[in-house]
Amino acid sequence: MEQLVNQIKELKDKIVANVEKDAEAFRIKYLGTKGLVKAIMGEMKNVAAENKKEAGQKLNEFKLFVEEKYEELKQATSSTPITNHQSIDLTLPGDDLPLGSRHPISLVKNKIISIFQRLGFAVAEGPEIEDDFHNFTALNLPENHPARDMQDTFYISQNPDWLLRTHTSSVQVREMQKGKLPIRIICPGRVYRNETISARAHCFFHQVEGLYIAENVSFADLKQTLYFFVQEMFGKDVKVRFRPSYFPFTEPSAEMDISCLICGGDGCSVCKKTGWVEILGCGMVHPNVLDNCGIDSNKYTGFAFGMGIERITMLKYQIKDLRLFSENDMRFLKQFTSAV
Ligand code: PHE
Repeated sequence: MEQLVNQIKELKDKIVANVEKDAEAFRIKYLGTKGLVKAIMGEMKNVAAENKKEAGQKLNEFKLFVEEKYEELKQATSSTPITNHQSIDLTLPGDDLPLGSRHPISLVKNKIISIFQRLGFAVAEGPEIEDDFHNFTALNLPENHPARDMQDTFYISQNPDWLLRTHTSSVQVREMQKGKLPIRIICPGRVYRNETISARAHCFFHQVEGLYIAENVSFADLKQTLYFFVQEMFGKDVKVRFRPSYFPFTEPSAEMDISCLICGGDGCSVCKKTGWVEILGCGMVHPNVLDNCGIDSNKYTGFAFGMGIERITMLKYQIKDLRLFSENDMRFLKQFTSAV
């Protein structure tokens, strides 16, 4: 019995001296299945029958004491994780701080902006939640106009007049309404359409649209401006063609194609064997649009164009699936570290 009491005292002293700094090591050493508490409990069998009650009490007390110490140690080490300053080696090199990179859409957007800025275009921005007038009606798309189907969109349930803009032409309307002429702007931004998501379509994408309004602006100005853009963006060898098209807000309207960058015009799967890929829509601003925005259509003319940044980026980098742009896969995003 005396031996047991001594043993307990010795262990207690050791614990109080606080040799153990690590809570988990302490637990294993004392409270684990092969720990000292269990071992000392085993001593009960050597205690004489008349002392068993007293010994049991002492052992229980000891066990509670150890458990309490363990809790204390756990608390102390979790609130002050670094107790021993000598364990920090200040000479070790620091952790790497990985540098992020710009999203390919941002890289191409910035490139498009810088090309047009050199031609004197200023950047204009507007809201992504628009009203019906700025997105459709002002652009010669009155209610029930069948061409609204070309740009089915998302409406805001609080107000049937509000919607997510389907193009940044709405920003052009806002600029025209300000009445300051001439206007020479590009409008980059995110737009939304009610499309089923696939490799070639998404419910949102990004656009850069452009507008130039002054006296005597002609289709020749439009062609030369876009030709300059294409050469700066894709190189001097690229060829351009215009095809007649239809947009309610421009007349005449056209779609612009460039010679396929993959096959050089010979015909491949990307250009569907035609040798050409479409990159934007354009045209001369319809007089009704000028009138709707308070600009004298007898005095002023202008051109407008609009392109999808995703499309330009896919051609530039030969990316085959639109969904890659919004999946946030680091393996994809890491590949675009430098400017185009
Ligand atoms: N707003 C048209 C679209 O989003 C693009 C466009 C702009 C076409 C200007 C002609 C002129 O599809």
